Amino acid sequence: MEKVAIYPGSFDPITNGHIDMVERGLRLFDKIIVCILCNPGKETLFTIEERLEMIRESLKKFTNIEIDRFDGLLVDYGAKRNANAILRGMRAVSDFEYEFQLALMNRKLNRKIQTVFLMTGFRWIFTSSSIIKEAASFGGDVTGMVPPIVNQKLKEKFNFISKSS
Ligand code: PNS
Repeated sequence: MEKVAIYPGSFDPITNGHIDMVERGLRLFDKIIVCILCNPGKETLFTIEERLEMIRESLKKFTNIEIDRFDGLLVDYGAKRNANAILRGMRAVSDFEYEFQLALMNRKLNRKIQTVFLMTGFRWIFTSSSIIKEAASFGGDVTGMVPPIVNQKLKEKFNFISKSS
């Protein structure tokens, strides 16, 4: 049977660290479903449509993936898609407490879906959407940390270049 993992997140915006996770996940799973869900603790910079567009463009080289969005509970989405696992990336120790809480709550809500943590590549240990947005908002160069489309959209969002027609 096909082994399917949901890779959930805010993806506001997708970074090279997220792409690294997809690559690593595809070595373990037959299919990865990258799904944007709502994190009530975060206000987003990009709309869902903008985030989907950036994800589609950034992941177009992968074949065994799907890209989706869902408004409810992650485990409900996982059950709907018959997923075996939830894939999450672990960077530094600072991620641990939140990830542990999330994984335990998800397990309480649905015992059939396992959370699998993968360590992100060393290059991306300090990369996060939040720190990238902060740097970009002040005109900092985030080239190499995000896919080219994200770099472009960040510059547009923060008015460092005008929108392409
Ligand atoms: O990229 P993020 O912001 O760390 O991702 C967190 C996310 C979106 C995966 C998490 O907030 C989530 O699963 N949201 C959907 C609602 C839900 O199921 N929450 C967890 C159990 S209460």
